[in-house]
Amino acid sequence: MKSIILIGYMGSGKTTVGRQLALSLGVTFYDLDWYIEMRYHRTVAQIFAEKGESGFREIERNMLHEAAEFQDIVLSCGGGTPCFFDNMEYMNSLAETVYLKASPEVLAMHLKMGKVERPLIKGKTDEELLQYIRESLQVREPYYTQARHTLDVTLLDNYDKIKISVQLLREQLGLVKV
Ligand code: S3P
Repeated sequence: MKSIILIGYMGSGKTTVGRQLALSLGVTFYDLDWYIEMRYHRTVAQIFAEKGESGFREIERNMLHEAAEFQDIVLSCGGGTPCFFDNMEYMNSLAETVYLKASPEVLAMHLKMGKVERPLIKGKTDEELLQYIRESLQVREPYYTQARHTLDVTLLDNYDKIKISVQLLREQLGLVKV
């Protein structure tokens, strides 16, 4: 099996869908942010605070190269991963890439439901968050749409909906159970 890499904006469900997809395929799941945190013994928020965004992006690229070399895995990236250096080209060269596409409203809902601290959106009001998502999504979409596959994601607020998304994704990738 070619490895599968999930990309998309913060809150698109990369980790949630990726973990379930890996489970259903019986392969190992990696989340790039968690991988970075494990390798550096620092949270992503701490790395942003200590090294700034550019320092984080360097680390992110290096860790992408490490994690993506593992065989037969599902890897979910950070929302910014495809938008820096030649990361998108690199991912397309060795994996099935999937863009989890969601509307700004769904992204905002997911982000509000989530507990992870995300430096780029910290302290924003609901209105500021939606505005920020709309603007930065426009900048990032040209990178995201370079993925080989796109999965439209609606609100993932219960397990059944997550399972449906995983099933749809498996169908798209030609990995349906027989
Ligand atoms: C980022 C997304 C985060 C994390 C970092 C920067 C981004 O990952 O890598 O906070 O630039 O969109 P998630 O998409 O998993 O939240």
